[in-house]
Amino acid sequence: MKELLKSIKEKAMQQLAAEDANIEEIRIKYLGKKGELTSVLRGMGQLSAEERPKIGQLANEIRESIEKAIEGKSIQIKQRTLDKALKNEKIDVTMPSNMQTIGHIHPLTVVQRELEEIFIGMGFSIAEGPEVEYDYYNFQALNIPENHPARDTQDTFYITDKILLRSQTSPVQARTMEKQKPPIRIISPGRVYRSDAVDATHSPLFHQLEGLVVDKGITMGDLKGMLELFAKNMFGEGTKMRFRPHHFPFTEPSAEVDVSCFVCGGKGCRLCKGEGWIELLGAGMVHPNVLRICGIDPEIYSGFAFGLGIERIVMTKYGIDDMRLLYENDVRFLSQF
Ligand code: DAH
Repeated sequence: MKELLKSIKEKAMQQLAAEDANIEEIRIKYLGKKGELTSVLRGMGQLSAEERPKIGQLANEIRESIEKAIEGKSIQIKQRTLDKALKNEKIDVTMPSNMQTIGHIHPLTVVQRELEEIFIGMGFSIAEGPEVEYDYYNFQALNIPENHPARDTQDTFYITDKILLRSQTSPVQARTMEKQKPPIRIISPGRVYRSDAVDATHSPLFHQLEGLVVDKGITMGDLKGMLELFAKNMFGEGTKMRFRPHHFPFTEPSAEVDVSCFVCGGKGCRLCKGEGWIELLGAGMVHPNVLRICGIDPEIYSGFAFGLGIERIVMTKYGIDDMRLLYENDVRFLSQF
């Protein structure tokens, strides 16, 4: 019987030592109610009174050591499972993360807001007008009757004979004067459209900012003073300004306004193409016809107006030489500003 017990222990230990040992099966096989060890113990009745306690003790010892071995194995299995899981679910904190890319304000918006801030600081308020506009406001009310040659330079997209996509922000002048009596001091930024082919300096959609001041006794001097203040704010204290005579149907007299190049200070460089000056905007004294059409008496009131292209300012300010870059929405480009 001793031998039998020893061989049971050996077998059990061998099985438990195996890599893929099933401990539950082993427990049942040896220690279960119908297990091998249990059935040996059941046969103890046949032993002599002398042998019985010895064999009993041995059997208990063997049971204990099998139990211990099973427990040891079970700890080992648990540890191995844990190790495996840790290995599989390993997190490498040095790996690059799924970066959340944060949006960026478009340079056109950056500059538009900057312009708005400067003009609001000078007492202007913001007026808005529709992009789908009547021919009347875009042209006729601005002293550009049907068949006027000035329409050619602002060929746009017509929806009907009378409705079009506005080719300039100037119609907001007419709309404002129609419903608001002087004093008027507004700017109006927004999109405008022209039937132009896309190239480095043209786009069928671009942005302008219009300005209008109407009151008693407004003169060209007010226009100059205000624009000078604006230019210094926008391009730096040392900026100089130059007025060149020009023609716009809705202003008289009219001028094109240049600022001294803020890169070279007027000496001539790549940005100003050696000129020392950068063309900034169109401006002038509101034409008496426009005032009259909009219901304001030109004998009592006078005003000045100006209009600038926001793209031009963005491109000049940031040294961008191709307008298309502003519309392609490539973040590698946009995130530089
Ligand atoms: N609307 C003109 C254009 O698109 C710009 C302009 C010039 C606006 C003179 C004005 C102005 O208000 O007085 O070319």
